[in-house]
Amino acid sequence: MRLINCGKIMRLLSLPLLVGFLGLLFACKGGQSPAEKVYVPPGKLDSYYAFLSGGHSGQIGVFGLPSGRLIKMIPVFAPDVAIGWGIDEGSKEIMGGYIWGDAHHPALSETNGDYDGRWLFINDTANGRIARIDLKDFVTKEIITLPNVGGNHASPFVTPNTEYLVGATRFSIPVPNRDVPIETYKENFNGVIAFVSVDKDTGHMENAFQILMPPFDYDLADAGKRVSYGWAFFSCYNSEEAYKDLEVEASQKDRDFIAAVNWKAAEEAIKEGKYKEINGVKVIDPQEVKGIVYFLPTPKSPHGSDVTPDGKYIVGGGKLAAVVTVHGFEKMQEAIKKGDFDGEVMGIPILKYESVRVAEVPVGLGPLHTQFDDQGYAYTSLFVDSAIAKWKLGTWEVVDKIPVYYNIGHLAAVHGDTVKPRGKFVLAMNKIAKGRYLPVGPSHPESAQLIDISGKKMEMLLDFPTPVEPHYGQIIDATLIKPELVYPLDQNKDPYAIKSADQARVERNGNRVDVYMIAIRSHFTPNILKFEEGDNVYFHITNLEQDVDITHGFGINFSNVDMQIEPGETKTVKWVAEKPGIYPFYCTNFCSALHQEMQGYIEVASKGSK
Ligand code: CUA
Repeated sequence: MRLINCGKIMRLLSLPLLVGFLGLLFACKGGQSPAEKVYVPPGKLDSYYAFLSGGHSGQIGVFGLPSGRLIKMIPVFAPDVAIGWGIDEGSKEIMGGYIWGDAHHPALSETNGDYDGRWLFINDTANGRIARIDLKDFVTKEIITLPNVGGNHASPFVTPNTEYLVGATRFSIPVPNRDVPIETYKENFNGVIAFVSVDKDTGHMENAFQILMPPFDYDLADAGKRVSYGWAFFSCYNSEEAYKDLEVEASQKDRDFIAAVNWKAAEEAIKEGKYKEINGVKVIDPQEVKGIVYFLPTPKSPHGSDVTPDGKYIVGGGKLAAVVTVHGFEKMQEAIKKGDFDGEVMGIPILKYESVRVAEVPVGLGPLHTQFDDQGYAYTSLFVDSAIAKWKLGTWEVVDKIPVYYNIGHLAAVHGDTVKPRGKFVLAMNKIAKGRYLPVGPSHPESAQLIDISGKKMEMLLDFPTPVEPHYGQIIDATLIKPELVYPLDQNKDPYAIKSADQARVERNGNRVDVYMIAIRSHFTPNILKFEEGDNVYFHITNLEQDVDITHGFGINFSNVDMQIEPGETKTVKWVAEKPGIYPFYCTNFCSALHQEMQGYIEVASKGSK
């Protein structure tokens, strides 16, 4: 019997085998499971930062993507007792006396229309403010108040070179605010669109100018880009000017508006002195200055106002409609030139709907917000449908839809509102998380869902809970952010800094006592302190460490004093010696094997006893 000629069989089989093997490899690569697509092995880092607003918690959540891991909560408008935000003197001053804010829309700074990784801004809907967080250390550095703006919701979207942040009224008020009958809403109340300038070197914010508007509710905004550079677009509802039962009264008209603001023209008007000053801000009245702002009719109670990456189209998400309305920037310019108007409100021309609208895209029920990818597609969140619709720019056809659980508000794609969207993922921020996580009582967390948008069909990858309450988010390529990991001690310019233990001391001036203290593994110097009842004590503590992640804490027993001091940092906290007795203090942030020993004592003598 002949033996089987293995060599020949192998030769015959080898080519198909090779082809098959390569095919399998390729298929595996393309056909990664959802788990593989979001898996970041131990020791590896995520590829993207997602900044999600923390709503009425007044904070911002920093998540890594694709893993969905929560890395940090940045305290902004609300105290954080772990870090001492709102407790130490520096952060108390930045918070300006408020202890809450309603943080809705994180906005990364931009250069040439793309995120540059320098700063993160966020609005406070409640108290009319904008905060700036430095992405060098993820710390809130500044909070500015926008006078005349009642409920700063449509904010703080940035212009393409961060020339300006915008703000706008959600709850119209009298401007300037004064006592008038609420029933005279139409006559006496106003909305305001605000522009806040940003210093391109320091990031410092200033109120640049404002535009007086009819008392509508201004909702969201986006700056023009590329061809529409120099403009900004604000959605608004309640063109009915209702002030009572908005649920019914503000949904009467089939169309509200997107307000198109020519901020370059506004700059000129300001230069020419065409403004009046109200509460210290230069305010343009469109009844007196023409050509600054126009209304684009948009169905129906529009929420999102999103400019396409090429700047050619403005997409309005009419939250009570079944379509998104696409306006053409070029058509708008022509209509303005031709005077194609349909009346005016408060001196602001209303452009004819047919003259500006390019398309109505039948995306589904409750369109809210649109983001873009790198392939010419748009993604719109659908609140009522609980879904995301994918549609093509130019042909305006809906090509895919994916359900989300439940009730999506906003969505964020990677660099999805810039001139250079990266594609990859879209993150759905869902308002209601019924049953998605282990139950923890009546209040459920919100949820985010990560969706792969790199293929033809969207693919659901992951969901994770998000702390209260992401309204909006932005996702940036992680390579664009390079935080410093320690503060160099030799660059510490704090007036109360000391650089070595022999500079540690206590200085008394009447009943003000300044304690210059150092913290270093694993002790404070000085650590035995003696005060008198009624002393106002200012602890100036410098952390002398220069090693990464060696943060010390400083907490005083029987008090509200606690804070964290980062390597190389100096912080000041005030403590009042109210009652005679002994007060231990200790390091509250685990720092070393002898962390437990890092402590001291304060002795407070009764008044006049020494
Ligand atoms: Cu220092 Cu714990």
